Amino acid sequence: MAQNWTPSSWRQKPIQQVPEFPDKAALAAIEAQLATFPPLVFAGEARRLKKQLASVAEGNAFLLQGGDCAESFVEHGADNIRDFFRSFLQMAVVLTYGAQLPVVKVGRIAGQFAKPRSSNVEMQGGVELPSYRGDIINGIEFSPESRIPDPERQMMAYRQSAATLNLLRAFAMGGYANLENVHKWMLGFVKDSPQGERYRKLADRISETMDFMKAIGITAENQPSLRETDFFTSHEALLLGYEEAFTRVDSTSGDWYATSGHMLWIGDRTRQLDHAHVEYFRGIKNPIGLKCGPSLQADNLIELIDALNPTNEAGRLTLICRFGYDKVADSLPKLIRAVEREGKKVVWSCDPMHGNTITLNSYKTRPFDRILSEVESFFQIHRAEGTHPGGIHIEMTGKDVTECTGGARAVTASDLQDRYHTHCDPRLNADQALELAFLLAERMKSGRDEKRMVVNG
Ligand code: PEP
Ligand code: CO
Repeated sequence: MAQNWTPSSWRQKPIQQVPEFPDKAALAAIEAQLATFPPLVFAGEARRLKKQLASVAEGNAFLLQGGDCAESFVEHGADNIRDFFRSFLQMAVVLTYGAQLPVVKVGRIAGQFAKPRSSNVEMQGGVELPSYRGDIINGIEFSPESRIPDPERQMMAYRQSAATLNLLRAFAMGGYANLENVHKWMLGFVKDSPQGERYRKLADRISETMDFMKAIGITAENQPSLRETDFFTSHEALLLGYEEAFTRVDSTSGDWYATSGHMLWIGDRTRQLDHAHVEYFRGIKNPIGLKCGPSLQADNLIELIDALNPTNEAGRLTLICRFGYDKVADSLPKLIRAVEREGKKVVWSCDPMHGNTITLNSYKTRPFDRILSEVESFFQIHRAEGTHPGGIHIEMTGKDVTECTGGARAVTASDLQDRYHTHCDPRLNADQALELAFLLAERMKSGRDEKRMVVNG
């Protein structure tokens, strides 16, 4: 067990990005109550994910991680969850088929509520109020009352997470993810887009293969991997009081696990070595992520890896790189070389969203070509360094939103106002997400072909 660590030892450290709750007694009462509630996930599941991520670290699988920037109470409904899951499954099948690698599926969902902000305050029409910090903390409505941090919201976030996870488990295990449904995952508005056409062709090929397998006796009834899928949850563990309440000892191993989600990550703004978030994370045994932005220096990264993964366990640590399309070439190679030099086992994942946010017509948006450009660079750099581009981390929804500009069915600056629903950062819509999956599949396939040529040549 980590030395001198307890689920509450983070409270002795300086902390960033945490709001002042005006009513401390109410906060403590809520945290005490949450600590009595059932866990959302089990340690055994977190270990299973860690094993799959170890396979990614070794170059034998690919990580797909995605979902909302911020889940919200108002968008909590079965249709949203189903559409997200369909879109996610479509991406996964495109990647699996194209890259011929197993895809590890991790949603930013069932707990992704707390948001770090670049400013503590927001100005509107000459009025200044505290920033919105996610539905688990305060309200998005621009009024003084709604922006007061309210601990009761943590109850709501827990219940929403439980309900969301329940439906996701049913989708993953109860037949929805059956590969025989590969055509049915297509969303209505994607059907007549260029991506829809590409997807249909791929789904036809998969159906043909399934028919062939059926003829030789391999069916979804007798082969669970054809009818079920592993689907894991993840979120940024920003609100440590909430996380502490769900930190439990696993009776099998005697280790501490966060049970609010399978995988948790540390945000780019809260990764200070001697601060509270790193302290909390070093003691839990879950697979964890660390966001790596342009300000992260190679020697600092190695110190963080030593603190977070002292036994160099493969699958424990995913480095989620979010530099920006114009900074990735400068930032990433230095980090890869330091990690390789020190022999650290990590998963390299690319978050092409958070370094590419701009403002257009007063909307926060992300141009799709910059997102693609960061992904392309990520792949090229890993190829040049001889390391495995292990995964992708994106903000996406199954809905037909207009939040990121561009894509084959181009969303323009003036379209942003049409269906801009996000509570925080702009997300890829289902069409853009599928387009990105096709591009990734191509890059991964060509990477593998190149490797084969080197091996055989
Ligand atoms: C996020 O993932 O929504 C986020 C805030 O990311 P980062 O910590 O990389 O800025
Ligand atoms: Co975000």
